[in-house]
Amino acid sequence: MIAIHNNLSDVLFHYRWVAYCEENKIPYKLVDCYANNIIEQLEGCSALMWHYHQASSKDIVMAKPLLFALEQSGMPVFPDFNTGWHFDDKVGQKYLLEGLKTALVPTWVFYEKKTAIDWIEQTSFPKVFKLRGGAGSQNVQLAKTKNAAIKIVNKAFGNGFPAYDAWGSLKERFRKWKLGKTTFFDVVKGCIRLVHKPHYTKVMGREINYVYFQEFIPNNDSDIRIIVVDGKAFGIKRMNRENDFRASGGGTILYDKEHINEKCVKASFEYSKKLKAQCIAYDFVLDSEQNPLLIEISYGFANGGYDACTGYWDEQLNWYPGTFNPYGWMVELILKPKGKSNNED
Ligand SMILES: Nc1ncnc2c1ncn2[C@@H]1O[C@H](COP(=O)(O)OP(=O)(O)OP(=O)(O)O)[C@@H](O)[C@H]1O
Ligand SMILES: [Mg+2]
Repeated sequence: MIAIHNNLSDVLFHYRWVAYCEENKIPYKLVDCYANNIIEQLEGCSALMWHYHQASSKDIVMAKPLLFALEQSGMPVFPDFNTGWHFDDKVGQKYLLEGLKTALVPTWVFYEKKTAIDWIEQTSFPKVFKLRGGAGSQNVQLAKTKNAAIKIVNKAFGNGFPAYDAWGSLKERFRKWKLGKTTFFDVVKGCIRLVHKPHYTKVMGREINYVYFQEFIPNNDSDIRIIVVDGKAFGIKRMNRENDFRASGGGTILYDKEHINEKCVKASFEYSKKLKAQCIAYDFVLDSEQNPLLIEISYGFANGGYDACTGYWDEQLNWYPGTFNPYGWMVELILKPKGKSNNED
C-alpha cells in the first residue's frame, strides 16, 4: 500500500496520484506528514509519496528531513534524496551540475564580499543575478553593469534579500492583469502582500551571505523545459515576457513538438541517468550554435501547465503522440522494486 500525503490541492501532485490509484485499483492510504506520529501512520505502507512545495512554510521546515529519514530507514519515497536534495537550491545545483559535467550555464557563487568584488572587477556584463530559491522568475534579475553588480553584492553581504520580492510580485500581477491573464483580485492581493508578507518568507529568513551570478545567454526569446520521469520525457517552450529576458512564470507556453529542440530532450535523458533521479524538470536556453545550456533543475512543477503537452519521448527519442499521465508514471515508479527508476539500470 502506498502512502500519499493528504493535501489534495489542485496545484500539487497528490490528487492526481490518488486518481491514478483509484483508476488502477492500486491500494493507497492518505497520511499526514506533519503529524507527530507519521512513522506510526506509515506502518504497513510500502512507500510514501509527497509533493512538498517551496512556498509552504511547513514543508520548508521539515519535508526534506522526513523524506531523507524514511529513505535511510529503508522506505521508498517520492521524491528520493537524489531527486529532491537540490530542490529550490540553485547554489547546491551549481556544484552538482558542475560535478556531473553537464552543460550548465557558467555560474559563480561567492561567500565573501571581497572575492565577489574582485571577480566583478575583471568580468564582463550583463550577468544574471539570482537568489538560490524561488520560482516563476521571481528572484531572477539582470545585473546590467558593474555598478549594478556591486550594489547587489553590498546588499547580499549587508542586510540580504527577502526570499519573496513583494514589489516585483505586484508588478508581475499588474502586468498579467493588463494582459487579461489574471484577475483584479490577484492585483489587490499583491498590494496586501506589500505589507503582509507570505508566512514562508518569515520562515526562510533573509537570503544573505552569498551571491549567485550566471552568465547571461543572449538572443533567447524563450526557455525550454523538459521533464524526465522514469525513462520518458515531455516538454514545453515558455516564451519570454515582452521586453524581458525571463520566460518562466510569464504565462505564454507552446506545446507543439516542433517548438522543442530535441537536443534538449537528449541532454535531459543523459542528465537523468547521471543524477539517478526519479523525476526532474530541466530548464534550458540555447547558445549561439543552438546547443542547450542548462539553467536549473527542479523535481516539482505546476502540474496544470503540462496537461496540454501533445506527446512524449522515450529514451531512443521515439515520439508517442497523444495524452499521457506522468503522475501515473510516478506511482508505477515507486511500485517497482525498491522504487528505483529506469535511470538506474
Ligand atoms: N543565464 C541565463 N541566461 C539567459 N536567460 C536566463 C538565464 N537564467 C535564467 N534565464 C531566464 O530567466 C527565467 C527564470 O530563470 P530560472 O529558471 O533560473 O528561475 P526560476 O524562478 O527558478 O524559474 P522556475 O519557475 O523555472 O523554477 C528563465 O525561464 C529564462 O528565460
Ligand atoms: Mg526555471
